[in-house]
Amino acid sequence: MTTSAATRLVVLVGSLRKDSFNRRVAEAVVERAPQGVEVVIADGLGEIPFYNQDLDAASVPPSAQRLRELVAGADGVLAVTPEYNGTMPAVLNNAIDWLSRPYGRGAITGKPFAAVGTTSSQYGGRWAHDHARRSAAIAGAVVPEHIEFSQTTTDVDVLGDEQVVSRLIAAVEALVAVEPRARAVA
Ligand SMILES: Cc1cc2nc3c(=O)[nH]c(=O)nc-3n(C[C@H](O)[C@H](O)[C@H](O)COP(=O)(O)O)c2cc1C
Repeated sequence: MTTSAATRLVVLVGSLRKDSFNRRVAEAVVERAPQGVEVVIADGLGEIPFYNQDLDAASVPPSAQRLRELVAGADGVLAVTPEYNGTMPAVLNNAIDWLSRPYGRGAITGKPFAAVGTTSSQYGGRWAHDHARRSAAIAGAVVPEHIEFSQTTTDVDVLGDEQVVSRLIAAVEALVAVEPRARAVA
């Protein structure tokens, strides 16, 4: 990804909870964004209907269309998510599904993508992050294997620990360094 004043990352937060740790992590990424990078949290993911091919027709639900346009105008996508029952939360899976269509030309196609986040287990949501990466890759995103940040919240003040925050920001910097892949023209 070329870093210029116009470089923009969209963040998909996998928790709708008001006091979500992961939302706070996403807000820290906004505040600590690398120089020349604008980070925008996609709001309203909870209002997007479950993906349904019947809805993905001539008139796409406005909430889904807004997300598609936000991501289409971005240089990369960062999921910041907890893990629910060994996988990513449905709200994140749904967002990726909407971004994956039209097949081969979805808004996420060709965009650098990474998944990070925190959970209360010792593994920090690693399965959720792996599954989000796999799903985004199948949807056509560019997903580097080396970008990881799966942080436990047990006995760790995630945002109060400068070493932990540095690892988070290093993951964001690594994502910004990834080149997008050109999308096939329809
Ligand atoms: C429905 C549900 C399922 C969960 N499953 C897992 C899990 O599989 N692995 C894990 O590490 N934490 C799991 N947790 C704990 C969450 O990771 C933890 O509550 C986390 O802080 C939620 O993220 P948030 O603070 O951003 O909302 C689960 C929580 C909920 C509500």
